[in-house]
Amino acid sequence: MSAAEDPVLHPETLAVRAGYEPAEASNAAKPPIYMTSTFAYASARQAKDIHQAYFDGTGPEVGRPGHIYARLGHPNLDMVETRLAALDGAEAAAVFNSGMATHSAIALAHLRPGDSMVFSRPIYGGTNGLYTGLMPEFGVHAATFADGCDRADMMAAAERALASGPLKLILIESPANPTGAIVDIAMVVELADAIGVRTGVRPLVVIDNTLLGPLMQRPIALGVDLCLTSLTKYCGGHSDLLAGGVSGRAALIQPLRLLRTTLGSHLDPYTSWLLLRSMETVHLRAERAMENARHVAEFLRDHPKVAGITYLGFLAEGTPERRVYDRQCRAAGSTFSFAVTGGEPEAFRFLDALRLLRFAVSLGGSETLITHPATTTHYAILPEERLAGGITDATLRLSVGIEHVDDLIADLSRALDAI
Ligand SMILES: Cc1ncc(COP(=O)(O)O)c(C=O)c1O
Repeated sequence: MSAAEDPVLHPETLAVRAGYEPAEASNAAKPPIYMTSTFAYASARQAKDIHQAYFDGTGPEVGRPGHIYARLGHPNLDMVETRLAALDGAEAAAVFNSGMATHSAIALAHLRPGDSMVFSRPIYGGTNGLYTGLMPEFGVHAATFADGCDRADMMAAAERALASGPLKLILIESPANPTGAIVDIAMVVELADAIGVRTGVRPLVVIDNTLLGPLMQRPIALGVDLCLTSLTKYCGGHSDLLAGGVSGRAALIQPLRLLRTTLGSHLDPYTSWLLLRSMETVHLRAERAMENARHVAEFLRDHPKVAGITYLGFLAEGTPERRVYDRQCRAAGSTFSFAVTGGEPEAFRFLDALRLLRFAVSLGGSETLITHPATTTHYAILPEERLAGGITDATLRLSVGIEHVDDLIADLSRALDAI
């Protein structure tokens, strides 16, 4: 039995074992990189059968590891897809060359002119651009909601969307980048079911699970249809590759793989290999980063020049957000935002005084990264929409890495003194 098929293995074990068996490649303990763009057929008959299996899902080659051309799929891609599906607890996964390529494929697969969709705010700037910039040009209308723990707020957004066309997709980002805003996953699934019964069209529920990743939040078990992760972040883990993945039922994943073939957005063999390697240690990096994050968050919370902090570990007992967090998140993660006292000038002075922390977009790397969302990652979002999502000119996003925490706190402390 392969590691991916064994239901008793823990995620930490699956992260190391799922997706590769040495017997598949000359008993090499670690997977080779299949650096080829095309695959030789064994015979004319087999060529036809492989194409039938790929495009129609029928015939004698179904379930066999045959390949055609690397854009359609290749062994290193199979490995990361199997590992991601195992970690997410899903039937299947499709891996793309970025998180945004994954978001775009889902949008193109499920939305047609006249349809509507709903998404939660705040949302990553690129995703916002996809649904408020590009998709409206194809006749798809988007409505948004900001309180992910309030059914009435979500339903009001759904009604606005339904007024303009069939509601086909509900996309949530939870916890949200950069504020950590939480959306009640089970509530969204229930709402989608209710809309399906009422209108005859059940919207697909998609979550962007990037901020916590597959080990800290397992949305498939909570009923979402598709779980998307920017693998560039925690799974890649070293800020040296871009990738994205989506997991779910095989019947939903296979059309996305076929669309990926048309879009040409597959992940190449070398990056797939790097990613598979990084996934082996994602839990170790995440544990250390989360331990550091708690100390850094405590330091910032108590600092007089910090006006507020969104670290999930500080959610107050008895609040709806805390109840939802306890139900659906396994840990607080290591990316959060905080606001310095003042506005953009103070935030800029603070950033320019940092010496150790890297001022760069992205998150989930081994090194600590800090950014100013209003002028970088969320630059293209309208100011009023940014504010509605809780992002001010004083907001800074911190992705805590695995360095020694005392060095991180010393750098933050020095920079706060410089404001
Ligand atoms: C929450 C979230 N989703 C999706 C993306 C897009 O991922 P990628 O940069 O891999 O395209 C990002 C990138 O920062 C993100 O933060």
